[in-house]
Amino acid sequence: MSYSHKINSPFLLENETDYKRWRNEKLSLYPESVSNLLIQLNKDSLLLSDLKKIKKIIGKYNFAVYEFNSKIDDEFLQKFCKKLKLIESVSNPLSDINNISNITDNSAFKINNSSKTEYIPYTNKKLNWHTDGYYYPIDISVKSFLLHCESQAEQGGKNFLIDHEIIYIFLRDHNPDYIDILMQKDIMEIPRNKNIKKSKAIKGPVFYIDKDGSLNMRFTSRKQNIIWKKDDIINDIKRFIESFINDDKRYIFDLLLKENQGYIANNILHRREEFNDGKKKRLLKRIRFLNRVS
Ligand SMILES: [Fe+2]
Repeated sequence: MSYSHKINSPFLLENETDYKRWRNEKLSLYPESVSNLLIQLNKDSLLLSDLKKIKKIIGKYNFAVYEFNSKIDDEFLQKFCKKLKLIESVSNPLSDINNISNITDNSAFKINNSSKTEYIPYTNKKLNWHTDGYYYPIDISVKSFLLHCESQAEQGGKNFLIDHEIIYIFLRDHNPDYIDILMQKDIMEIPRNKNIKKSKAIKGPVFYIDKDGSLNMRFTSRKQNIIWKKDDIINDIKRFIESFINDDKRYIFDLLLKENQGYIANNILHRREEFNDGKKKRLLKRIRFLNRVS
């Protein structure tokens, strides 16, 4: 087989020696504790050195965690993103005028507004493994996102994260043909949403390489509303991915965001546990971007 794609230039995935070097470097970063990936930030003096630390951690793990010393508002959150060169934010039907989504349990709105209950993120239910915006075509796909905790749940709501580059490595090590299949442009199809008039079916790859040479992943563990191209080994591949992300804990970070904490990720694979609100409701702010932290 041949690899005609490159990753994180100057690493060329088509060159086995370069790939092996990159792979070994990447795997040598583990095991790592999520507490070492957390940067403390001062709201009143956001230091360039702290921003550099965040970028450095993201450069290694494709995500970093931060904690502000006090509460920040939406305007500050946007400024913070800007400083990380995250500028081109992406809207969605439930985001506000600044493309910020307020992720909270809205299921009580069911009686008044049934459309809101369609989206599991806006309930207290668990969210299975996915990358954000996997249902978008790759030319407008989500390359990074920030998730900021304004208030945590009384119980539950933990996030689990795994760097998609690690998944790539394990798939390629197991069977390089798996990668070729997952890079096919029509391997995963999201059928049109019948509730949206102009909705179209979207076909795309699971893994693809950007213009700048970065590796991206589109994936969801959901079984409904997703059509996999019929291929003899696609079921083996899906089984392999599912067992890797559910049973192999070596590369999975678990993260319970507390007030004023958040994480920034180059759209790595993640999932969320169900949660229960107390007097205060769980509220997370999310902004998605068309570019990565680099
Ligand atoms: Fe997500």
